[in-house]
Amino acid sequence: MTKRSHWNSRIGFVLAAAGSAVGLGNIWRFPYLTGENGGGIFVLIYLACVALVGLPVMVAEILIGRSAQSSPVGAFKSLAGHTSKWVWVGWLGVCSSFVILSYYSVVAGWSLHYTWLSVTGRLVGLGPEGVKPVFGELYQSAPMSLAWHLLFMGLTIAVVFGGVSKGVERWSRILMPALLIMMLVLLGHAFSLDGFTQAVHFVFGFHADKFTSIGALEALGQAFFSLSLGMGAMLTYGSYLHREDDIMGSSITISVLDTAIALISSLVLFPIIFSYGMEPSTGPSLVFISVPIALSQMPGATILATLFFALLVFAALTSAISMLEVTTSYFIDERGWQRRRAAVLAGVVVAIMGIPSALSGGTRYFGSDLVSLLNKNWFDSMDYLASNWMLPLGGLGIALFTAWRMDEALRYDHFLSGSRLRIFYKWWLLLLKFLVPVAILLVFLHAVGLI
Ligand code: PHE
Repeated sequence: MTKRSHWNSRIGFVLAAAGSAVGLGNIWRFPYLTGENGGGIFVLIYLACVALVGLPVMVAEILIGRSAQSSPVGAFKSLAGHTSKWVWVGWLGVCSSFVILSYYSVVAGWSLHYTWLSVTGRLVGLGPEGVKPVFGELYQSAPMSLAWHLLFMGLTIAVVFGGVSKGVERWSRILMPALLIMMLVLLGHAFSLDGFTQAVHFVFGFHADKFTSIGALEALGQAFFSLSLGMGAMLTYGSYLHREDDIMGSSITISVLDTAIALISSLVLFPIIFSYGMEPSTGPSLVFISVPIALSQMPGATILATLFFALLVFAALTSAISMLEVTTSYFIDERGWQRRRAAVLAGVVVAIMGIPSALSGGTRYFGSDLVSLLNKNWFDSMDYLASNWMLPLGGLGIALFTAWRMDEALRYDHFLSGSRLRIFYKWWLLLLKFLVPVAILLVFLHAVGLI
């Protein structure tokens, strides 16, 4: 056995974990969900979900990883016993990471395409009318979607290949501060737009009439996705954490960073949208159609568009790394493979699994019924399966295990070591025992259409 790798520093861990959390979920998904669900009230419920459900589950995931010093499957084997049913929670995590990364990489590939169009000045050159069909063309062109998807997977493999401190941590230390600076530059610019006040009202105003129970459940699902919970990504990162590092404190920092970036993204996107008289509730195409149209009319458009789409790529890359790390660490821990072999093999399998997602929009090369499942195309089926079923189920398993089954002394010991926040222990456990399972169960029942 080779010695297990660890982070070089606690800040390295926090940046890597925040890198996992901050992703397409913050910049692409959160603003359009906010738009669809009426703004302020959705944001308020989202904040409650992060604090009361997301944060406790994050602490639980990191704690399981660190106390077992192993990736998801091995962690449940060592904490619950080799033949225990809990090991399935670990397996579910490994499967989720495969499924999510396979389509996530397709969206990240689109962001690469837009970055390329922006850098070369072509996006802006097209003008508002010319920008509109760009997304449709990309989505329907199988070779283009495929090429960008494969390139993005190549980048992800290259980082994971480098290892925990020399790959994941090193790149998170570069990409995360760059992302923050780019975000603040864009926010500064959004501040100068006419639509900024309207955007602030939209994001923070309390529009009680827009409240729906579906919006509340959607907020909880988004909290899960955005904080990277339920598939063992945080568990795996936690397994590289030193014994004396504070889990509770780090989790608070990661959650606050993730939430701040989701809010800032909205305050970057909505002023752009409002200033150019567009609708905030255009769904998933907000970032790839409405925003480019508005951007293409602004002064300094080439630079702004490049900054925005590069930001999206950076955010997606640090998240994708964490997903590939789950599978890679499984092969290293459980099969005794060398990291390089594990990273390349797992990455290639994910890249192949992503091919139908990349081809989902193209009917020229693949008859649409060939890639359809559950009456949705492949891409939508994977997204549906992963966000509505696999993540909540994984999260439920992690919460139940930590609260009801894990060795109490071990749990207490790991919560406390390195932490000055011992007063939170009782509250954390209470939330994890009761509120978290009930809330997750509600999302789950909603996903299957029972409520
Ligand atoms: N949190 C990431 C995002 O917001 C997505 C993700 C989910 C990453 C699950 C890892 C695990 O985009």
